[in-house]
Amino acid sequence: MSSYVTKKTPGNTAWFTHDRFGMFIHWGLYAMPARHEWVKSNECMTEAQYDRYFQYFDPDLYDPRQWAAMAKAAGMKYAVMTAKHHDGFCMFDSAYTDYKCTNTPAGRDLLREYVEAFRAEGLKVGFYYSLLDWHHPDFTVDMLHPRRNDPGAEQLNAGRDMKRYSAYMRNQVRELLTNYGKIDILWFDFSYSDHQSGEPWMKGKGKNDWESEALIALARSLQPEIIIDNRAEIDQDLWTPEQYQPKSWIRHPDTGELVTWEACQTFSGSWGYYRDEMSWKSPEMLLRMLIETVSLGGNLLMNVGPTARGYFDHRACKALEVYGQWMKYNSRSIYGCTMAEPELKAPADCRFTQSQDGTRLYVHLFAYPYGYLELPGLAGKVEYAQFLEDGSELTFTEGRVEHFSLGATRQEDLLVINLPAVKPRSLVPVIELFLK
Ligand code: GLC
Repeated sequence: MSSYVTKKTPGNTAWFTHDRFGMFIHWGLYAMPARHEWVKSNECMTEAQYDRYFQYFDPDLYDPRQWAAMAKAAGMKYAVMTAKHHDGFCMFDSAYTDYKCTNTPAGRDLLREYVEAFRAEGLKVGFYYSLLDWHHPDFTVDMLHPRRNDPGAEQLNAGRDMKRYSAYMRNQVRELLTNYGKIDILWFDFSYSDHQSGEPWMKGKGKNDWESEALIALARSLQPEIIIDNRAEIDQDLWTPEQYQPKSWIRHPDTGELVTWEACQTFSGSWGYYRDEMSWKSPEMLLRMLIETVSLGGNLLMNVGPTARGYFDHRACKALEVYGQWMKYNSRSIYGCTMAEPELKAPADCRFTQSQDGTRLYVHLFAYPYGYLELPGLAGKVEYAQFLEDGSELTFTEGRVEHFSLGATRQEDLLVINLPAVKPRSLVPVIELFLK
C-alpha cells in the first residue's frame, strides 16, 4: 500500500485519485472573438460590443457525444465544463437571468447535453462556475472588470450590491446541483482579495464578497460527495495549480500535510478557443505533463477550447490523439497510480509512478538509454520486468552491468534492465516492474 496520506477533505476523492486524468472544457461566447476567454476585460469591451456574440452564437456543429467519445479515447475519466465564465454568460437554462444560451440562436441548454453525453460514456461530470461576473448589474467594478477604465468608473458602483450578487450565485448553484442529477465536481473560479492595482478605490474580491461559506454549505447540502476546489478562498477538496507543473507533491501551506491536487493545463496557452495562438505544446510535452503530475501524486485536468460552431478544432483533436495513442497501451501506469515510495528514486530522465497497492512500479523513459537502464536501489526488489506497451519481457541483472567493460564497478543495490536498441513505439516508453 502507498504510504502517502493526504489531508482529509469533505468530499469523496477516492474515485478522483484513482482516475487521474480529466478534460477541462472552456466554452462560451468568447469562442467567437476567438482571442482569449478574457477578451471582454482585456479589450474593455462595452456591453453593446460584447452583445454581438450573444446575438450570433449558434453552435450548429455541437455534438457532445463526439466530445465525450474523444475524451474517453484520450483516456480521460472525467470532465469539467464552464457553466458560466467571467463574462457572466450562462451555458445553461437558468431561471435567474436572461443572459443564457437558450436566448441565443443556440436555443437550448447546452450544458444539459454535455452532462447527458459524458455520463452516457461513463465519464464523471463537473461544472466550472465563475465567481466573477462582468455582466451582472450588481457585480461591482474592480481592477479586472471591463468598465474599470471608464471615465467616472467609481460612480458605476453606486447601487451595485454584492450581497444581491452572491444570492444570485447561490440561486444558480442550487439550479446546477439540483437540475442535472449527480454532479461530481464543482470548480469555482477565482478569488483575488489580495490583488492590488488600478484606482485606490478598487479592491480585489474574495470569500467575503462571494459569501463562500454559505455558497459551499449550500453545494454540500445538495451534493454531499461533490469535490470542490479551493478557489472560493476556503479549503475544500482540491488544490489547483494552474499552468504550472509542481516540482513536489503539494503540501498544505499551514499544516504541511499532503493535499489532493489537480494541475490544470492548456494545449496552447489560453482556455477559450484562440484561433491564432501559435504556442501549441508538443506531443512529448503533453505526455510529460500527465506523467509528471501522477508521479507527484496529482491529477491532470487538460483543457480543450471548442470552436464557436461547437467542435474541437484539428489541433485539439491531434493533441487528444497523442494522449489516446499513449494511454491505449500505457494507462496502467496512470490509473490507480501515485508517487512512488520515498525510498524509490528515479534516475535522470525517468519518472516513477507506483500502483496505489504498492505492487508495481512504472518507469517512464523521457530519454531512451542505449542498452541498459541502471536503477540504483532496486536490486532484490523486482520479480519480473516488461515493457508495458506490449507486455514483452525485459531481462535484468543485479549488482553490475553484464557487459565487458573495463572499469565497470559493482554496486550492490543496482538493478540493470537490458533494453533493446530500438525504442518501442510509444513516445514515452514505460517499463513495468512487478515488485517482490
Ligand atoms: C484563470 C482564468 C480563467 C480560467 C481559469 C482556469 O483563473 O481567469 O480564464 O478559466 O484560470 O484555471
